[in-house]
Amino acid sequence: MKKESQLLRVGVLGCGPISQFAHFEACRKARNAELYAICDVAEDLVEKMAAIHAPQVKYTDYAAMLSDPIVEAVIIAVADQFHVPAAREAIEAGKHVLVEKPMGVDVEECEDLREKVLASGLVLQVGTEKRFDPGIAFAHSFIREEMGEMLALKAWYCDSLYRYAMTDTLQSIPLSSGKAKRPEGDPKADRRRYYLMAHGSHLLDTARFLGGEIDSIRARLVEKFGARCWFAEAEFADGSVGHLDLTIAVRMDWHEGFQVYGEYGSVIGKTYNPWYFRSSDVECFSTRDGQYHRPLGEDAHFFRLQVEGFADRILRGISAPGADVDDGLAAVRGLVSLARSAQSGKKVLLSEAEGGV
Ligand SMILES: NC(=O)c1ccc[n+]([C@@H]2O[C@H](COP(=O)([O-])OP(=O)(O)OC[C@H]3O[C@@H](n4cnc5c(N)ncnc54)[C@H](O)[C@@H]3O)[C@@H](O)[C@H]2O)c1
Repeated sequence: MKKESQLLRVGVLGCGPISQFAHFEACRKARNAELYAICDVAEDLVEKMAAIHAPQVKYTDYAAMLSDPIVEAVIIAVADQFHVPAAREAIEAGKHVLVEKPMGVDVEECEDLREKVLASGLVLQVGTEKRFDPGIAFAHSFIREEMGEMLALKAWYCDSLYRYAMTDTLQSIPLSSGKAKRPEGDPKADRRRYYLMAHGSHLLDTARFLGGEIDSIRARLVEKFGARCWFAEAEFADGSVGHLDLTIAVRMDWHEGFQVYGEYGSVIGKTYNPWYFRSSDVECFSTRDGQYHRPLGEDAHFFRLQVEGFADRILRGISAPGADVDDGLAAVRGLVSLARSAQSGKKVLLSEAEGGV
């Protein structure tokens, strides 16, 4: 955990589970960033997190954190409904933004944010950390540099019935507060919507990261015994065909991965539950040398690598694989298209998607 001489001073908004499991430690371990400030309206939670992670300053008021001139960038780790308003405020205050996925809850607010980000010249990155999974990053490079034209891509994200048995074993108990700020109602009550937003956002982003722009989606949703399965046919902008599978919950182990067929090779990947911090198993076959290429032993702290990529972009202008504001908008368009198509049975063009999931 050797630190570089120039560190990005980060303020984290939200002391909830994702900050506790990922962002605080990621900032503390990052070679080029510092956990400078933390903020939560729940004062008791801020105090506990400050005692553990020792930021330089702590805030209970987001506007106050944004007016701190030392804060260069914020990580927005609050409920989905608050992402765009919080990101907009940060951009207006001149701060770079790493916002949790999905970037927003409807197409229009994401478009509005995109305009503001592009006009500001600031960096906005979306927290789809799987792009920093070294296996997925290896597959991405192979597809771009070795595979030639793509023919087809399949991607699946199937959460396991035993998810919590696994994650409860892996994670410490998150601290919570009765004073935490939450959106009105229960955003998790509508399971279709919640699964699409929470899990579909990863599926869409990984499919686009590997396969490029998606033009249209035609989806079916089947619901049985409390499980939901979205199967979707995707058309990529390069004319390739895709199949997306979002199934929750599968009656088996966590099942996430991808297959890509190309001109000079193919890729197959198996991704693990993220809380194992284990790199995806990826095999890339190349007809150029007749061999399988399989990375092993890579550093797989996706959340730390994500912050490091974010800081590299800001401090040194180095392009990193993180999802930018266009990727964030495209993922939300994809999610809305999945939802609409599952309702109508018709193909939906992502460019025509409107509203929320
Ligand atoms: N990348 C991933 O794999 C991954 C995994 C889990 C969750 N997430 C995302 O992380 C986000 C947060 O999830 P969570 O479970 O930690 O949320 P949460 O709602 O449990 O916690 C958010 C915290 O932020 C605080 N907060 C909200 N608005 C605030 C404001 N304006 N000012 C100060 N404090 C404020 C709340 O008081 C709360 O303590 C969600 O968007 C979720 O989708 C991402």
